[in-house]
Amino acid sequence: MHTQESFEAKAKTPLMLRALRGEALERPPVWLMRQAGRYMAEYRALKEKYSFLELCRSPELAVEVSMQPMNAFDMDASIIFADILLPFTPLGLEIDFNPGPQVANKINSPSDIEKLKYIGVAESCSFVGEAISSLKNELSSSFEQTKTLIGFAGAPWTLACYMIDQGPLKNFAGTQVFAARHPEVMLSLLDRLAAVIEEYLLMQIEAGADTVQLFDTWAGLLPIDDYRKFALPATKRIVETVQKAGKPIILYVNSASHLTEAMLETGANCLSLDSCTNLGRVIKQSEGKVALQGNFEATNLFKEPSTVKLEVEAALRSFPRNNGYIFNLGHGVLQRTPTESVKTLVETVKGSKSFWNDKNSLESL
Ligand code: CP3
Repeated sequence: MHTQESFEAKAKTPLMLRALRGEALERPPVWLMRQAGRYMAEYRALKEKYSFLELCRSPELAVEVSMQPMNAFDMDASIIFADILLPFTPLGLEIDFNPGPQVANKINSPSDIEKLKYIGVAESCSFVGEAISSLKNELSSSFEQTKTLIGFAGAPWTLACYMIDQGPLKNFAGTQVFAARHPEVMLSLLDRLAAVIEEYLLMQIEAGADTVQLFDTWAGLLPIDDYRKFALPATKRIVETVQKAGKPIILYVNSASHLTEAMLETGANCLSLDSCTNLGRVIKQSEGKVALQGNFEATNLFKEPSTVKLEVEAALRSFPRNNGYIFNLGHGVLQRTPTESVKTLVETVKGSKSFWNDKNSLESL
């Protein structure tokens, strides 16, 4: 039975969506990239029975995995359990995980791009939409407080990195070489990927995602001019499409401290920053116009729980305003991270009301 109070509590916009709008809050919302996964015993137990792709492709199992960290740590937001490579299937590329991604028919030359197929996302990735609708119901029946449901996709540059044969080159330099040799072909591939990702994200929004995060993990390897030439136009197109659908979008790029100016040009509602990026500098640079997410160092979670608590508090104190901030890591939760530390992190952020409230404005910087 619902009381009047619980209805009111549920009707309230969740903290995460308010932070994305830049509202002043009593404490920042908290969730973690890769919050579901191998550091949790519950996940490892399921992996005994199912492969990673089976977990992703079964809506029932994907919901179960997405709920594991929510039930254990009670984050403010739940990210659907999936992978950035799933939308390779509509393009006719075969994927597998071991545990890293393996793509069977990679692109070696411009003519390989013409061989890419196109099967609609709705047919080939419908399980992601089904999992989102069912996660939405599960979240609202399991928690009194309204949780935010995050959908996600890989950004075109990062997807191209997994598509183009790297040969002997490390760190996706093969993708940069391909772009250097065939810039027009690369731009048209990125545009094509952007169209697939738009369709994929709109499907997730239609199914109930409250916001979406675009992972451009490897775009941080590009110098800013190349980022502007290749990664930015495809990203901007996706940002506009998501915003037209009425939802905020978060952009994550790893190792991207040299790119924040260009990341701001994408028009994303929120930038998710890696741990090497100076948060204070980005706050100044963005003039408070976008929300920021991040950027606690993931390896800090291997310290003693009491140290974790102190460091999370220090990170919260260092954010100079009480609006537009979402607490997260600078990259995903690492394998073997002690669950106790994740618990401490979430509890510390949730308990930060007392000092979070007397935050100053930008002028104090
Ligand atoms: O955040 C979440 O809890 C949702 C799940 C999620 C996964 N992958 C599950 C996963 C998300 C958001 C991703 C995104 C993703 N996938 C990115 C961007 C984010 C980032 O970390 O930079 C990238 C680059 C990929 C590609 C990918 N998938 C890699 C590099 C790997 C291997 C990484 C590893 O930890 O070994 C995967 C496999 C993968 N994706 C696993 C999980 C839980 C491990 C698979 C397993 O359990 O066997």
